[in-house]
Amino acid sequence: MTRKAILRGVGHYLPARVVENAEMESMVDTTDEWIKTRSGIERRHFAAEGELTSDLAIHAAKAALADAGIGAEDIDALVVATSTPDQTFPSVATVVQGALGTNGFAFDVQAVCAGFVYAMSTANAFITSGQANRVLVIGAETFSRIMNWEDRTTCVLFGDGAGAVVLEAGDGDAGILATDLNSDGRFRDLLYVDGGVSSTQTTGVLVMQGKEVFRHAVEKLAQTAETALEKAGLTPDDVDWIVPHQANSRIITRTAQKMGVSMDRVVMTVQDHGNTSAASIPLALSVAKSEGKFAPGQVLVMEAIGGGLAWGAVVLRL
Ligand code: UT7
Repeated sequence: MTRKAILRGVGHYLPARVVENAEMESMVDTTDEWIKTRSGIERRHFAAEGELTSDLAIHAAKAALADAGIGAEDIDALVVATSTPDQTFPSVATVVQGALGTNGFAFDVQAVCAGFVYAMSTANAFITSGQANRVLVIGAETFSRIMNWEDRTTCVLFGDGAGAVVLEAGDGDAGILATDLNSDGRFRDLLYVDGGVSSTQTTGVLVMQGKEVFRHAVEKLAQTAETALEKAGLTPDDVDWIVPHQANSRIITRTAQKMGVSMDRVVMTVQDHGNTSAASIPLALSVAKSEGKFAPGQVLVMEAIGGGLAWGAVVLRL
């Protein structure tokens, strides 16, 4: 039998502060109507002062471990997908490891909004190659820290949060069936943060050419999802749930349409979380699971695109 990475547990954490679109109206020149119509977002969560990406990650990780019914000591690899780390180094993953006491090794993956898909693919490679048996994969972000509050075209779109999954080696039908990763650095100027260690020695703020990113998203997401399905020997007809990156409800809808998957098979949480970058897919997974949406044997496709551009998909059987 082939060794596979089975989804054993999921969990999430959202900071207490909820910022409704109405509050955004008091911060920048925008309206609830514009934000809802153009992005589908109604509210987002912002981390409290002093609340770090690692704090969010630790809460989500504890929830995923509890859901899996295992202890931190049972984990032998920990991967955190984030573009908003507490510090330049060490990695958020080692901070989480220090707090929880997981075993083995820990490191961060940075592929912006595609980060969780990249981290899942990395964890899958460790499990299928026999280098790890139980991997904790976390997507955690505090994008509110890198917003330009003078730029209404971006600051209304993002939020903070974390989601986590426990993957475990198994040899049945369930598990990750295929992954597909892509990037194209020619498009790196479409979405970036204008600061950094070796350039400005400042953190910088997010800059996005939204329309262009939108165009690429609509074109590339269905493509990568279908490629991953093909690698798994499946078609969109076999998909029970699309769990997409939550950036914009219009992108999510168009991707599903292109794939011929009806919207009642798509998990949508962007209205409540905004765009939480690498945290959005595990957040959506965890919320959907807590709502009782999933059943054993179902096929899930996760797809995401973001800065780089970097994009990809994961096909998983529950
Ligand atoms: O997660 C990483 C990947 N990121 C994404 O997937 C985001 C992709 N892009 C998008 O989601 C959309 O492009 C946005 C939601 C960012 C923008 O939607 P859009 O339909 O592309 O709008 P637009 O940028 O073309 O702006 C339309 C109008 C403009 O006014 P004019 O020039 O037509 O008069 C903007 O100035 O809306 C105006 N506008 C706003 N109005 C009120 C831009 N931002 C705002 C705002 N409130 N916050």
